[in-house]
Amino acid sequence: MKILGVWDGHDAGACIVDEKSVLVAVNEERITRRKLEIGFPKHSILACLNYLKIKPSDISSVAATTTDFAKTLTRAFPHLKENYYYFRRRKTQMPNFVGLRKNFKHFLTEIPEVPLCRSVSEKLLRRDLDKLGFKDYKVSFVGHHEAHCAAASLCSGFKKSLVITLDGVGDGLSGSVNVYEKGSLERLSSIKARDSFGLFFEQVTDLLGMRELEDEGKVMALSNYAFPVSEEENKLIDFFKVDGLNVKSKYSTLQKYSLLKRILWNTPREELAYMAQATLEKHITQLFQNAINETGITDVCWSGGVASNIKVNLNIRTKTNIKNWFVFPHMGDGGLAVGAALYQSMLENGHKPMKLDNVYFGPDYSNTQIESAIKKSKLEYEKRNDAPELAGEIIGGGGILLWYQGRMELGPRALGNRSILAPANSLEVKDRLNLQIKKRNWFQPFCPSLLQEDAKLLFEEVDSFDKFMTMGYMVKQSMVDNMKSVINVDNSARPQMLGKENKKYRRLLTQVKKNTGYGVVLNTSYNLHGFPIVNSPEDAIDVFIKTGAEKAILGDYLVRNG
Ligand SMILES: [Fe+2]
Repeated sequence: MKILGVWDGHDAGACIVDEKSVLVAVNEERITRRKLEIGFPKHSILACLNYLKIKPSDISSVAATTTDFAKTLTRAFPHLKENYYYFRRRKTQMPNFVGLRKNFKHFLTEIPEVPLCRSVSEKLLRRDLDKLGFKDYKVSFVGHHEAHCAAASLCSGFKKSLVITLDGVGDGLSGSVNVYEKGSLERLSSIKARDSFGLFFEQVTDLLGMRELEDEGKVMALSNYAFPVSEEENKLIDFFKVDGLNVKSKYSTLQKYSLLKRILWNTPREELAYMAQATLEKHITQLFQNAINETGITDVCWSGGVASNIKVNLNIRTKTNIKNWFVFPHMGDGGLAVGAALYQSMLENGHKPMKLDNVYFGPDYSNTQIESAIKKSKLEYEKRNDAPELAGEIIGGGGILLWYQGRMELGPRALGNRSILAPANSLEVKDRLNLQIKKRNWFQPFCPSLLQEDAKLLFEEVDSFDKFMTMGYMVKQSMVDNMKSVINVDNSARPQMLGKENKKYRRLLTQVKKNTGYGVVLNTSYNLHGFPIVNSPEDAIDVFIKTGAEKAILGDYLVRNG
């Protein structure tokens, strides 16, 4: 039976699953073209139905998530979400009383579910679904952290697993430690909102002049450029204490914000980033080790926004007794629609853990549709039967290429279907990409895609192959020159290790290997900085023209700019 998953908060989205797999999933931002769109995901729901060529009446079960007080309030008054969207993205002039507004937001989000929230939320969700033509369906609300847990455990392939969630806050909690086995999740411990690692890192992001819930990765990247601070001198390290499976924050969320502000007053920005990053790494690694010790389970999966921090993940992987690991690729709240649907499928369909092989869950477009969009743009183009090999030649020859194929990826990473590709060994190309094409901060690193079979040649300690760019690996010293444009200053990288899940991309990388000796390229998402990854061919052409890049391959078509 098909189940529709719906997430109507930050990075809203929808998905449809059956008893075995995720059939289709997409986030609203890709369609409305507003990054991390917030609100009821009307367009995503329609896109999912359209992809499967089914009608709303074909869906009899809808799974949504999160019924805390703040979420219910914003369901009732959607303009609050819209105001917050502009405020968070700093798209408005700085409003009066910023501190007070932030304090109020933290206060609201820390209130857990109160009586009536669930029934009010259901009524409001039904109102929106009914408008789309849904009839005779049941609505189930899955807990926020249960949805994160289901996404991780049911996509990990592990029969029994330790499941850890860590995020900002949802349903009054910021994390949980659980065991999944035989179709049920047992909660071992919960982490309260006031003890949130995610909110702490959000606050640091905000105080460094960046956008909370969006630029945390930049803080992690910036931390690489600080002079190392010892643990004794780290002024943030005692903000948290991990005791067994419990996390305790020394200060309330509001106290942390004002303390961080005071510390920043006489601390260089990159040093604050370093101290915050080191604080996460130490305490979260400890929490994972404690959980492994207490349960004896070494197959571990995790999800929640904090799981996007690949340097924390690298620490967990290399400094605990973990044996097998899995990070859900759409780890933040954008993955909650999938999580809610899978959780409900576990209850209704007996959905068992599957090993996620790819996240090409979005819409796709035929060559006819692509050609029609190119014709409208009046760009010069030609049809090729050898698009992957041609792409490999262009990149192997030192060029930058916009590459658009097949079904769109779910989640924050482009994995070879909506990607901008370039050589992995050129600092010049890296600078050109950062400064002219993507217009990003100079300290943000790019990531590599590589053939899985080359992973052990290029990286230290490859225990398993990460297909989803969720894990940090250290590049071998002898290989640094081959990967100059895709490594951090500390020689770490966040690779996609491609297996057989994407044939065209594999052909492309194989051609690059023929040209350069290694099947590795720089892979960054096909978008302009601050905008979502492209979805339709029209989006792809629009971005191609705006970047000023010379060549793109869209489907089977080589397109030239200018
Ligand atoms: Fe979350």
